[in-house]
Amino acid sequence: MLRVDIITIFPDMFGPVLNESILKRAQEKKKVDIRIHDLRDYTDDKKHRKVDDRPFGGGPGMLMMPQPLFDAVKAVKARRKVKVIYTSPAGKPFTQFYAKTLTKAQNLIIICGHYEGIDERVREHLVDEEISVGDYVLTGGELPAMLIVDAVTRLIPGVLGKEESLIHESFEGGLLEGPQYTRPADFRGKKVPDVLLSGNHKSIEKWRHEKALAMTKKVRPDLLKKGV
Ligand SMILES: C[S@@+](CC[C@H](N)C(=O)[O-])C[C@H]1O[C@@H](n2cnc3c(N)ncnc32)[C@H](O)[C@@H]1O
Repeated sequence: MLRVDIITIFPDMFGPVLNESILKRAQEKKKVDIRIHDLRDYTDDKKHRKVDDRPFGGGPGMLMMPQPLFDAVKAVKARRKVKVIYTSPAGKPFTQFYAKTLTKAQNLIIICGHYEGIDERVREHLVDEEISVGDYVLTGGELPAMLIVDAVTRLIPGVLGKEESLIHESFEGGLLEGPQYTRPADFRGKKVPDVLLSGNHKSIEKWRHEKALAMTKKVRPDLLKKGV
């Protein structure tokens, strides 16, 4: 079972996301073990539970100090073989392919940054991989950690009801998913394409592939060039 330990100064943010729907069921089915750790429990400053300080050399904002992070990672890691991830706008872009590679890990620790980020020594000596969830700056690493856990968990065999739902979705084969329809076949005069009602699986597959290709060409031509 994949174990994910998340180190954060906002542990309460995670409950609503982890305790609903597929993520909740994945934990109940023992497909993933997700544990949240409050970074403030590891600071030497027991009185004020401080985890940040001003940057040397000046500059705006605060940085997360090395001591609480080093001690938190050491305690959480124990003697296990763990991949330590830091969520960061300067990280490698998170993609579906990246999510797949993380399903191969046994243990992940995700450090959620805050303020202006972390002391560089944490990056140099603790972090194995730095992951960005997009070219924009968020207030903290909690939302990125949730995105990563969600995308990785649903790829673990047995988590989704039907494994084929993974085969036909966006980014598989380098394409976005094409249009889909459900009942009724005629909604206020707006009709479902005939081919989908034909029962001819070969024609349906061909139609879906053409639509997926057209959709990708239109909105994400970059995917076709690089192949996700
Ligand atoms: C305000 S940001 C710090 C930004 C940092 N000063 C910079 O310019 O790169 C605070 C924290 O949010 C998280 N974060 C923000 N944007 C992110 C992104 N696009 N991907 C992953 N994590 C992000 C990181 O953990 C970061 O340490």
